[in-house]
Amino acid sequence: MSVLSGKKILLGVSGGIAAYKTAHLVRLFIKAGAQVQVVMTPASKDFVTPLTLSTLSKNPVYSSFFDEDQENGVWNNHVELALWADYFIIAPATANTLSKMANGNCDNLLIATYLSAKCPVYFAPAMDLDMYKHPSTLDSFHKLKQFGNTIIPAESGELASGLSGEGRMAEPENIISFLENDIISKLPLVGKKILITAGPTYEAIDPVRFIGNHSSGKMGFDIAKIAANNGAEVILVSGPTHLDVKHPLISLIRVKSAEDMYKACFSHFETVDIAVAAAAVADYKPKNVAQQKIKKAASTFVIELEKTKDILASLGQHKKNQFLIGFALETENEIEHAKLKIQKKNLDLIVLNSLNDKGAGFGHATNKVTFINKDFAIEPMELKSKEAVAQDIINKIIQHYDA
Ligand code: CTP
Repeated sequence: MSVLSGKKILLGVSGGIAAYKTAHLVRLFIKAGAQVQVVMTPASKDFVTPLTLSTLSKNPVYSSFFDEDQENGVWNNHVELALWADYFIIAPATANTLSKMANGNCDNLLIATYLSAKCPVYFAPAMDLDMYKHPSTLDSFHKLKQFGNTIIPAESGELASGLSGEGRMAEPENIISFLENDIISKLPLVGKKILITAGPTYEAIDPVRFIGNHSSGKMGFDIAKIAANNGAEVILVSGPTHLDVKHPLISLIRVKSAEDMYKACFSHFETVDIAVAAAAVADYKPKNVAQQKIKKAASTFVIELEKTKDILASLGQHKKNQFLIGFALETENEIEHAKLKIQKKNLDLIVLNSLNDKGAGFGHATNKVTFINKDFAIEPMELKSKEAVAQDIINKIIQHYDA
């Protein structure tokens, strides 16, 4: 899956011959799963039609401050357009457009949108080789880089003038891979490896029966997805669940019992920077597992149970520099019990669920948690979706590394 998937891309097209390649560029953005809107300079419409780009982007294309075709002249809100975007890509960026961007010369909708944008801006220059090297152009590059914009370098080859050299707009495929690599390299958890446990465990009674629980695994899977979307390499160790995940940065290890989960966790723990124990691990398992299916006979039946290994507590015992996060589900004296768990399991952060809070815990799409860190700083959070709670947990990890 591309990092561009689900992202809102604003493409700014200025008037150079390379504008004809933006039809292909828009298709590649759509193929990567992005949403695309296009803003054009008036001059660019001589090279590629708005109809082509609106058909491919599945959105109206804007090129003037108001809609001349409409009787009442509808104003095109450049601020809204700029704030909509996650990324603004100006391709092709002509010498003229680059100079206007660098100097705030706001005489068309593209420049007005650029000046309103708060998102990361990339520009792919396209011009003749001598224009590309001219001090005036280099001055624009310099200023734009100082503004925090990123240049997608031009490529060498045959130019529209017939000359050959540097100045061709980067090929659409190369623009896409440049963006993907650049976005990934700037993600806050890039280079970090995270172990996450999720779901229930099944403790066998006999070959066909087990002791389990109703955990869906959603919390752990959501944390895994958000961690991966922030650039982390994820080892997701999950008990039996119907959930699945496909992400190049997530390795899913499916396990059944607490013992399997323990082994899977410890085969990776040394290599990770962060561990999050979101699994609902069985605290007890049958002491003896019957080899054959148990037949019904007596009117009552007793299964002797013994404790499973506490995976999180063992991770706490063995941790070196790992940032360790656990969960606690409590029904009384919540804060005190959670603090004790932080100490007992040597945690850096605990995510406390109190069953006294409406909408928290099992069987809800929402969760209300309280964060308590190892210094016992308490931070109650609002009731929110489990996905938003997962995002909060990832934010805590990012803050830890930012501090
Ligand atoms: N946990 C674990 N291994 C276990 C039991 C729990 O890794 N065998 C982890 C859970 O993933 C969770 C945390 O420990 O992050 C808290 O689990 P919880 O069941 O609330 O606490 P316990 O320590 O089991 O204590 P109690 O049930 O007595 O509250």
